[in-house]
Amino acid sequence: MSMESFFNPKSVAVVGASRQKGKTGYEILAALVRGGFAGQIFPINPKAPEVEGLPCYPDLKSTPVKPELVVIVVPAPMVPGVMEECVELGVKSVVIITAGFKEAGEEGRKLEQTVVEIARRGGIRVVGPNCLGVMVPINKLNASFGGDLPGPGGIGYISQSGALLAAILDLARANEMGFSMLISIGNKADLNELDFIDAMAEHEGTKVIAGYLENITDGDQFVLHAERISRQKPILLMKSGGTGAGAKAASSHTGSLTGDEVAYEVVFERAGVIRCDSIRTQFDYAQAFAMQPLPKGPRVAVITNAGGPGIMAADAIEKAGLTFAKLTDASQERLAKCLPPSANIHNPVDVLGDALADRYQQALEIVLADEGVDTAIVLLTPQAMSDDKGTAQAVVDAARVHPDKCVLGCFLGAAKVAAGVKILRTGGIPQYDSPEAAVETIQVMCHYAAWKNRPKRVVKLFPVNRRKAERIIDRHLRRGLREIGEMDSKEILEAYGFVTPRGSVATTAQQAVNIADQLGYPVVLKIWSPDIIHKSDVGGVRVGLTSARDVTDAFDLMMYRIPRKMPNADILGVLVQEMCTRGKEVILGMSRDPHFGPLLMFGMGGIMVEVLKDVAFHLAPITAQEAKEMLVKTKTYQILKGVRSQEGVDVDAIAEGLQRLSQLVTEFPQIQEMDVNPFMVGPEGVTPVAVDARISVEGM
Ligand code: COA
Repeated sequence: MSMESFFNPKSVAVVGASRQKGKTGYEILAALVRGGFAGQIFPINPKAPEVEGLPCYPDLKSTPVKPELVVIVVPAPMVPGVMEECVELGVKSVVIITAGFKEAGEEGRKLEQTVVEIARRGGIRVVGPNCLGVMVPINKLNASFGGDLPGPGGIGYISQSGALLAAILDLARANEMGFSMLISIGNKADLNELDFIDAMAEHEGTKVIAGYLENITDGDQFVLHAERISRQKPILLMKSGGTGAGAKAASSHTGSLTGDEVAYEVVFERAGVIRCDSIRTQFDYAQAFAMQPLPKGPRVAVITNAGGPGIMAADAIEKAGLTFAKLTDASQERLAKCLPPSANIHNPVDVLGDALADRYQQALEIVLADEGVDTAIVLLTPQAMSDDKGTAQAVVDAARVHPDKCVLGCFLGAAKVAAGVKILRTGGIPQYDSPEAAVETIQVMCHYAAWKNRPKRVVKLFPVNRRKAERIIDRHLRRGLREIGEMDSKEILEAYGFVTPRGSVATTAQQAVNIADQLGYPVVLKIWSPDIIHKSDVGGVRVGLTSARDVTDAFDLMMYRIPRKMPNADILGVLVQEMCTRGKEVILGMSRDPHFGPLLMFGMGGIMVEVLKDVAFHLAPITAQEAKEMLVKTKTYQILKGVRSQEGVDVDAIAEGLQRLSQLVTEFPQIQEMDVNPFMVGPEGVTPVAVDARISVEGM
């Protein structure tokens, strides 16, 4: 659907254009007029002959032409009536500013539903209700009560909070930030964030899509669209608030460790969305993405008129994992020729405290021409001789000579650099108030560039026995069982190529000894009952049994104690299993997020997961590369690789386990949660073993 009527309408009607200054309807009309909108404006108010010098109409049908965009600012109970008028007239685009809908309780929710029904019937697309409105600076369209229009620019902004948008606008105006459009989506009764992300992806003037969201309406679609769009334009989102999905009762480790926060983190990472944790950082990043090219690599050079901030920048570059650029001999010679003898001609290039604009310009041009530099940060502290305005203009001019290189300004201070900062920003150079903020922005840009340039995702499909897994899952669902016991879980895992410990169920102590003799000692005994999920809690697991005697004693004890502890449990015997002793215990898991689907988890077993929560997540289906990245993300990765005298484990085998798990949970949406815990991994060449597993399912 084209959003052109919202962004560039030929005419706008404001229904509820009050005569009274300070009322929302009046302020919206006044803003539209003040903004210089070139199309026709129709105030609608049955009680007023004119508002703001414009002739007023009693209703929509009285306007001389059908308005292309209608802004509704009448009290909530009157909104359905105005919507009916829109249907009659054939209006297709409406912004409802009015509050008092879904956000206000049950009555409001019903009213919103009515509005949506009318809109669907008339083929009307709606922004809001309960929103601040729409602003498109380049078209001088201000259909909002967010104050005056900011300047035009490359940032498209979507906000689920009108109040936050008002704050952003204020900050933007004070900092010369330009926008292609700003959309307050309010209650998202019809159009939601994804509709506008899609529209902004298509919109030529929008270079960066930014926004503030409290929730995402359609998780699956969001991932698909955002991933595709992030390849063309960066998406920078602030996300707050939870939907409570994380609070669901979890029956697995993975389930208890995942929640809303994890889901969003994983989804954003998968879709290449850059998450911003404050308005400030979003601003910092957005201005650079909107004004500068992406750095071609991690090499950063610094030009400064003071030693201290130069060192601060150098420290930040190192901490951020970027490279402190090494200037070529030729560049250094050129710098030596144009700078005073006491200047530093190495990176950070110190043009000295008495530097005027000319030194900055020459130094920046030389640095940007150096093929070993991808990004330059220009630092200035306002010293006695400093010329902030001239230097800012010099930076703008030098950067224009090298449009393929990324240049960031960092004029430190406030009042004394304000004029220079303005010149930087209006000249297309983003400005930061600390070296760290500038460096962090470069880091984010490099990370995004790497994401954008990564090879196409290819998810490997393993040959598996899908039918077998399906039979087991269906059987459980038919019987109304949510938890799949250990033996069946293992069969499912085996069907997907996992190796599980050998073993069989014994119903007598003698049988248990015979099985143990065949397996070889040591062995493990586990109580065997479909009714006992947490076997250890009832004394139903004994490990490290090294003799027939041990096995007999353990068997007898279990069979004596457990029926007393759990008199209603159906006990089928005791599972005698080989004991896997070689290798390290890790945990592979999955918890299905209600909005986004299966979230895979990896962590080192035991306390690393339970106490330290050292785990990594990824959205399934997963590629081999992503599986490896999950391992690398954990703090314990070094231990897995082997430290000091400790032998490392086969990390590729773990990555394969994650991919197989990913395939299983993708092919079976019935699986809600699962743990393979422990997954025992040995050194390279030793096949890992899925020692224990727990799967919970739900009918679709
Ligand atoms: N068509 C057009 N205009 C009509 C009308 C109709 N059918 N019926 C009444 N009006 C006029 C009124 O006469 C009034 O004009 P006047 O002041 O010149 O008399 C004007 O519309 C507004 O109506 P009023 O009843 O005075 O409402 P209000 O201005 O007090 O409140 C809202 C209307 C929409 C602002 C209010 O209900 C609201 O929702 N406020 C919150 C908005 C908000 O915060 N949104 C979310 C931001 S994030």
